[in-house]
Amino acid sequence: MKIIQAKDYQEMSRVAANIVSAQMILFPGSVLGLATGDTPIGMYRQLIEWYRKGDLDFGKARTVNLDEYVGLSTEHEQSYNWFMRQHLFSQVNLLPHNIFMPNGLAEDTAAECVRYEANIRAMGGIDLQVLGIGHNGHIGFNEPGPVFTKNTHVVTLSERTLAANSRFFDSGERMPRQAITMGMGTIMQAKRIVLLCAGESKAEILSRAVLGDIDPMVPASILQLHTDVTIVADQAALGRMSMDELSANGVEVVTERE
Ligand code: GLP
Repeated sequence: MKIIQAKDYQEMSRVAANIVSAQMILFPGSVLGLATGDTPIGMYRQLIEWYRKGDLDFGKARTVNLDEYVGLSTEHEQSYNWFMRQHLFSQVNLLPHNIFMPNGLAEDTAAECVRYEANIRAMGGIDLQVLGIGHNGHIGFNEPGPVFTKNTHVVTLSERTLAANSRFFDSGERMPRQAITMGMGTIMQAKRIVLLCAGESKAEILSRAVLGDIDPMVPASILQLHTDVTIVADQAALGRMSMDELSANGVEVVTERE
């Protein structure tokens, strides 16, 4: 595991965008695993800027997203499909047939999970997976629980996640209680993983994920077992881990700029 320490959110976003673009320049046909949430928005903005300048080409890339709410159509402004169109897809030259997201309106959600998982396998797996982290340690929508669920599955959202994400829904509107998410096995099979984390409110969970036991109650902790994980985090998010603890745990830290 490697940590790149960025000064602030903007620098974290630029470093993450650099990692994604390096992947795309070296391997234009990459399968990119993408995430939603506030954290990657700055990275998407930077990627769009480089695309507009002509420095980046999404023409051959394929994307798979981590998750989607059950019951929201792609036209619902809180669907992750809408989010991705807003923050990336509509602004770069990704081809529509190369964009894959779980269908939140599938009548048979179990069959949709099987289809989604099989599609990722058929593409040869994910080359670079971008992740955020929830305050309870979730990645995608893999909530804390007794086990790490392997494949794409339907999940019932935890109270904490509902509380965190309810701010996006209109008052009076019922927020979806379930989501379809890639499983931990799906994510762990990605060849490379980059996890973005910003802000003091994430410092404690990030430290538990990086230094704590590998525990399904902290889903992100399983990333300790992956051989190619880079965490790009701002100083605030790294505030609960000392350099000594990190090096004692075999974590290499690169400081972006002094
Ligand atoms: C959501 C998403 C996750 C995301 C997390 C953190 O629930 N399903 O993929 O990483 O929340 O979001 P944020 O970046 O807004 O803190």
